[in-house]
Amino acid sequence: MCGIVGYIGEEQAAPVLLEGLKRLEYRGYDSAGVAVYTGSGVQVVKSKGRLSVLEGILHEGEDLPGRVGIGHTRWATHGAPSDVNSHPQVSDGGLFAVVHNGIIENYLELKNHLKRRGVAFASDTDTEVVAQLLEYYYQGDVLDAIRQAIQRVEGSYALGVICAHCPEKVFAVRKDSPLIVGLGQGENFIASDVTAVLSHTRTICRLNDQEIAVLEQDGVRFYDRDLEPIEKTPEQVEWDVAAAEKSGYEHFMLKEIFEQPEALRKTISPRIRDGRVSLDGISLTREQIEGLSRVYIVACGTSYHVGAVAKYAFEKLLRLPIETDVASEFRYRDPVMDERSLVIIISQSGETADTLAALREAKRQGARTLAIVNVVGSTIANEADDVLYTWAGPEIAVASTKAYSTQLAVVYLIALYMAQELEALPPQELKASLKALEALPDQAEQCLSHKETIQYFASQYFNAKDIYFIGRNVDYAASLEASLKLKEISYIHSEAYTAGELKHGPISLIEEGTLVVAICTCRRLFDKMMSNIREVKARGAVVLGITTEDLRERLAQETDCQFCVPATLDFMLPSMSILPLQLFAYYAAGMKGCDIDKPRNLAKSVTVE
Ligand code: G6P
Repeated sequence: MCGIVGYIGEEQAAPVLLEGLKRLEYRGYDSAGVAVYTGSGVQVVKSKGRLSVLEGILHEGEDLPGRVGIGHTRWATHGAPSDVNSHPQVSDGGLFAVVHNGIIENYLELKNHLKRRGVAFASDTDTEVVAQLLEYYYQGDVLDAIRQAIQRVEGSYALGVICAHCPEKVFAVRKDSPLIVGLGQGENFIASDVTAVLSHTRTICRLNDQEIAVLEQDGVRFYDRDLEPIEKTPEQVEWDVAAAEKSGYEHFMLKEIFEQPEALRKTISPRIRDGRVSLDGISLTREQIEGLSRVYIVACGTSYHVGAVAKYAFEKLLRLPIETDVASEFRYRDPVMDERSLVIIISQSGETADTLAALREAKRQGARTLAIVNVVGSTIANEADDVLYTWAGPEIAVASTKAYSTQLAVVYLIALYMAQELEALPPQELKASLKALEALPDQAEQCLSHKETIQYFASQYFNAKDIYFIGRNVDYAASLEASLKLKEISYIHSEAYTAGELKHGPISLIEEGTLVVAICTCRRLFDKMMSNIREVKARGAVVLGITTEDLRERLAQETDCQFCVPATLDFMLPSMSILPLQLFAYYAAGMKGCDIDKPRNLAKSVTVE
């Protein structure tokens, strides 16, 4: 949600900032801007629309001189996308330029306070309040102005600041919104995501809440909120630039779909050793697992859909009560937890505001927390009692694919690990389950090799007005994700229903030619699904069935077309059935001419409530 970059060094800042913003555009893309210290003062250039508009205005940055600057790509929260609401926001007297990610919750109160003191505001944004506060408190010491300003603001922020009186410095501070400092040779950076600096440096420091960084060309100093100097140990990022580039694919989403087999291998294989699941670094003891009374799985979006699958896997393997919840609901529903609860938090970015708040609530109530996260060192990864990383590499496309697959793999690993520790599975069954898990990467590869079938199918249905996904049990959980994928990038209206619930209302929406995608991979419930398919066919639906090879013939009797996925254990089937449906969403969106990697109104990382 909004991307921030900052640069100080020998190079011309504007092209570096624009390049960084390009890599962050997935975080928000309704407007963009830069502020650069040009020698005579701070110059701001910003514009509504995609980053390409700004690049055009600046001729790729060439038109703006200066070696020190900040940049921003926006996902609007306060104030419509417009030139004036774009960042950087500048203080009344033009002293401070600020880029911001997050929400200043008490901005109205602060704005009124400053207005009463004669400060004139230009925009509708909460961010402008920060720029104005800085100038209001400034008495010749920027750091002190920042100290005072962050004492006043409530909410979440990652801020990049430059000041006309300090032409050789970039300032940064954050709370509940990610910000890193990239350390180069004779140049330094700030960014809301490491991908923005990877082409310059892989040495970074992550800012913790209310830590302040002061960047100069030859070094960076860090301070706590009281301006006491602090030492930070730099870390090396393992991701390389290629991982954050399209590498010949037309879109990041397609690249990431095809990266799934490899990502699954990386996530699974180091964690299975000598016929056992080995979750290195996990402090959850056997006694604690034995003492668990309940498991909660909490997440948002696609990660929540992983939780929907997890519920079936955990209940089947562990016979423990499991609740899966959307984080934004969980945090406000006064959930009941104690030290016998395990709360599993799932988040690709490790920064989603609601998910982070749910984690904090769980900890506050004394529950044990275990996070499944993709971004190393992210806030959720840092705050959870235990963390298991998905080794998916950077996921750039807004529509999540490889994060989903690898999160599922980690969920299976945790469920099998707990079953192993509790001896809840006979050894032969555990062995067979691990074998099935290890086979998933190759099976995914095999499945994706049939992409033309799905491409053809998409060409027949990309003009559909509504598409319904139905399934039972884990097939229903996969339907949720398939439907989300389709609607977020193709804008085709789509819903997922449990097949058994259809006749309680949604079936009234089925008419001649309506496309229904029926996921029928669960052998145990296959006959029930056949009945539900007959019900929609009788009302004119066209049905695409997704199943496994052994069930194809029976499915063919009831459906208009079929796609087969490799068979695996019941609870792992979504890892297969989702693959053709990710491709279906991708091709349908492409055929409709949609902006696949940057769908309208969405952002990759949602750091506001
Ligand atoms: C946004 C993204 C989704 C993602 C969700 C949760 O809505 O567009 O792809 O699933 O946030 O993000 P997280 O990083 O917590 O998994």
